[in-house]
Amino acid sequence: MVVRRKVDEQLEDLQGKKAQSILGGGQRRIDAQHKRGKMTARERIDLLMDEGSFEELDAFVLHRATEFGLADQKYMGDAVVTGYGKVNGRITFVFSQDFTVFGGSLSEAVAQKICKVMDLAANSGAPMVGLIDSGGARIQEGILSLAGYADIFLRNVRSSGVIPQISVILGPAAGGATYSPALTDFIFMVKGTGQMYITGPDVIKSVTGEEVTHEALGGADAHAKKSGVAHFAHENEIECIEQVRRLLSFLPQNNMEDAPRALSQDDPERRDPELLHVVPDSPNMPYDMLEVIARIVDDGDFMQVHETFAQNVIVGFARLDGRPVGIVGQQPQFMAGVLDIDASSKAARFVRFCDAFNIPLVTFVDVPGFMPGTNQEYGGIIRHGAKLIYAYAEATVPKVSVLTRKAYGGAYIVMSSKGLRGDINLAWPTGEIAVMGAEGAVNIVQRGEIAESPQPEALRSRLIQEYQDQFMNPYVAASHGLIDDVIDPAETRPKIIRALEMLENKRETLPYKKHGSIPL
Ligand code: HXC
Repeated sequence: MVVRRKVDEQLEDLQGKKAQSILGGGQRRIDAQHKRGKMTARERIDLLMDEGSFEELDAFVLHRATEFGLADQKYMGDAVVTGYGKVNGRITFVFSQDFTVFGGSLSEAVAQKICKVMDLAANSGAPMVGLIDSGGARIQEGILSLAGYADIFLRNVRSSGVIPQISVILGPAAGGATYSPALTDFIFMVKGTGQMYITGPDVIKSVTGEEVTHEALGGADAHAKKSGVAHFAHENEIECIEQVRRLLSFLPQNNMEDAPRALSQDDPERRDPELLHVVPDSPNMPYDMLEVIARIVDDGDFMQVHETFAQNVIVGFARLDGRPVGIVGQQPQFMAGVLDIDASSKAARFVRFCDAFNIPLVTFVDVPGFMPGTNQEYGGIIRHGAKLIYAYAEATVPKVSVLTRKAYGGAYIVMSSKGLRGDINLAWPTGEIAVMGAEGAVNIVQRGEIAESPQPEALRSRLIQEYQDQFMNPYVAASHGLIDDVIDPAETRPKIIRALEMLENKRETLPYKKHGSIPL
């Protein structure tokens, strides 16, 4: 007669197996991981999830490779820890690559584990967070590993615009392994340890002769400042994962939900007379739009996205009377807030994310125009600028804008204008909407008159002054209904909050289509 083992023996066996899986690639490799200044896959999950909420899946999965002596090298769970838990009390899915097992490389089994949680996240409408620390495709598994990446990419794309997807780069992400993060909505990186590149320094040296370090090539600064691939760069893993939690607090669980409204202690009727003094008298003097934003949003709490990339435009999340909003604004302190290629792409992507996830847009406008020059033209400013027009025109979420100073030319149209279905367009008395600045306009239109004058400079100054008095104010636009109201800057916060409250049930649809053809 076959006798089953006693339950307590079975439990002991189970605990032994779990303890083994917790050790990943073994204590020696865990120590090496710590020595590199990195946490283990499980330590990271503990930081991300609310305490005690994590439920692991597939801890017993083993890789199936037999080549290169791998039949004898199996680790419980293989090179990734997957499951779900809660972040700020809301269900969130996670996969966390375990560098202590074959350098976190992607085997067929690892890919299947990741795909399983990605499917669960998509089907249950909850965010997906990938904690990346991986040497890429599992070299010993070859094509099965590559096929695994394809399965992941497909899911990234299918989930795009359905659930928020966040990637956190905490170690290497090399080769094709960069493309799953690149397909997600936000990329966080840790300085000094997180590195992303298509080909590493050795390959670059052999192909082009160029010498570059891992960090200079694909470190957090490279991607958060130069390429714009990363949206956030942090000093260490603790700070980085804390900020992932903060970002999630602004986002809905999926595209069918509104973003979670928080209880605000900040008075929605709060006036701020200091806002009267922010905009300098001279139209070309810089000021800090971040200060304007901080004075208006709840408790001055603004989470800037892409803080160090294309700083001439500001994008990020805040709350107004507890409602999460996406904020877009020019930064007059940086290149006068001009719209160049990078700023246009940065803002367009952000606007589309907010629109996909029902997050209202609040736009602060002070834009001198699109950036002129051969650099920009050859780089395709027409194509990239068109992305931002497309994004604002397509967005059906509530769109509220505040014109603080200038809105010239095509850049006026782009920035949430009435013509692109801006719902409520407010202006400060300092606002100016025109085809171009007074000086440029007079020099073109009244060039002949000035040339024939016995005192051309005096005439030029007078004409500029006349043009300024007549056109450089918000009332011409307001007289045509292109500005809904000219407001006292001190009242900007209550005015936006009332507009958002009015627009809370906004319903607007686009004509049926498979999808548009945004100029990419
Ligand atoms: C299997 C790997 C591995 C991999 C690392 N390891 N990468 N095992 N497949 N891809 C193992 C190492 O053998 C080692 O095992 C352990 O992980 C730690 O690696 P180290 O090299 O000791 O660590 P470190 O010095 O920190 O260097 C990390 C690294 C380096 C920069 C990631 O390991 C590396 O360059 N790996 C190869 C990267 C790569 O070229 N991958 C393929 C990219 S192409 P032991 O037993 O010693 O602990 C690709 C195609 C995807 O990914 C295409 C998708 C479309």
